[in-house]
Amino acid sequence: MAISRLIIEHFRNLSAVDLEFDHGFNFLVGDNGSGKTSLLESLFYLGHGRSFKSSVTTRIISYDQPHFTLHGRIQEQQHQWSVGLQKQRKEGNTIVKINGEDGNKIADLAHLLPMQIITPEGLNLLNGGPSFRRAFLDWGLFHHQSAFHSAWASLNRLLKQRNAALQHSYTYDDLKIWDIELAKLAHQVSQWRADYAEALRTEIEQTCQLFLPELEINVSFHQGWDKDSDYADILRENFQRDKHIGYTIAGPQKADFRFKSNGLPVEDVLSRGQLKLLMCALRLAQGEHLMKQKNRHCIFLIDDFASELDENKRALLAERLQQSQSQVFVTAITQDQLKQMQPEQHRTFSVVKGEIKLLNS
Ligand SMILES: Nc1ncnc2c1ncn2[C@@H]1O[C@H](COP(=O)(O)OP(=O)(O)OP(=O)(O)O)[C@@H](O)[C@H]1O
Ligand SMILES: [Mg+2]
Repeated sequence: MAISRLIIEHFRNLSAVDLEFDHGFNFLVGDNGSGKTSLLESLFYLGHGRSFKSSVTTRIISYDQPHFTLHGRIQEQQHQWSVGLQKQRKEGNTIVKINGEDGNKIADLAHLLPMQIITPEGLNLLNGGPSFRRAFLDWGLFHHQSAFHSAWASLNRLLKQRNAALQHSYTYDDLKIWDIELAKLAHQVSQWRADYAEALRTEIEQTCQLFLPELEINVSFHQGWDKDSDYADILRENFQRDKHIGYTIAGPQKADFRFKSNGLPVEDVLSRGQLKLLMCALRLAQGEHLMKQKNRHCIFLIDDFASELDENKRALLAERLQQSQSQVFVTAITQDQLKQMQPEQHRTFSVVKGEIKLLNS
């Protein structure tokens, strides 16, 4: 899986960019504010239909422009796709095209483009709330378990309906009707998550051993309610409390995937560099697992490669990325910060005030 060409119009300070990428490493080098993160953000947007920086999409559209447009050419083995995404300022409409055809969904793009992102903000995977770690697990389920996406959408719809119905229900019998299907879906999704977390454990442990040999990292999955209880019973028992609070307090919407070192939460005891390495280990492990199980290579987006890492750790990360045989995009302020990266195949681009030029190939 690789993006061989990307055309960008009016995405942040990238007003007109047309680039051919290497299927191995692509280095983006430039000063602060030149547009390096914006390029990664545009690639991420193409694969997720959202930004990793702003939740308000209209802020991503270049100032005074009515829309931004992204066109990509994707290659995987013998197959090729042309994909397009346009986001309009007016009414916030999104148009997605795959091979020239309208009516595609963001999920179709996301399926075509499995991506892993490593950014300074990405530490929220470890020091942010459980929703970041659920998103991490659900990324895996989305790519490994074809029935997950619709099951998760149905589960969320049922939860929303149940939360609305809580207000008007006087006895549990008024709610019961929502809970039969909800409990079934909750058990299914939790089982998938638990199986995926367990399957990923070996890859996580191996990568942690390489990046953080001085630490013992323990991983545990929590499904969002007592592990020995039937969710239908929990829903019934919690009825009065749920009604009082106004939403369903326990369930798969509260699941977590926790990391501990010496029995303590990693966010409380690891240094920033160690947290970054753990985050890299998790993302690489997830990419490796997809490759082994589905024979699909993720695209890695690495913003500000050098930050927080000493030279040895930069070299370790560089080596592991090379072994992954994936397409990798890496940003840095100077070429010197990339000296630990010596892949056989690479292109270097200079980024200057929104203009991106190929320096070598
Ligand atoms: N909607 C927008 N329209 C036009 N320009 C924008 C918009 N949003 C942000 N910018 C500008 O885009 C520029 C690129 O920012 P970007 O985050 O890509 O820089 P960078 O090269 O990653 O810098 P750093 O090294 O500091 O991380 C910034 O100067 C920013 O002010
Ligand atoms: Mg940046």
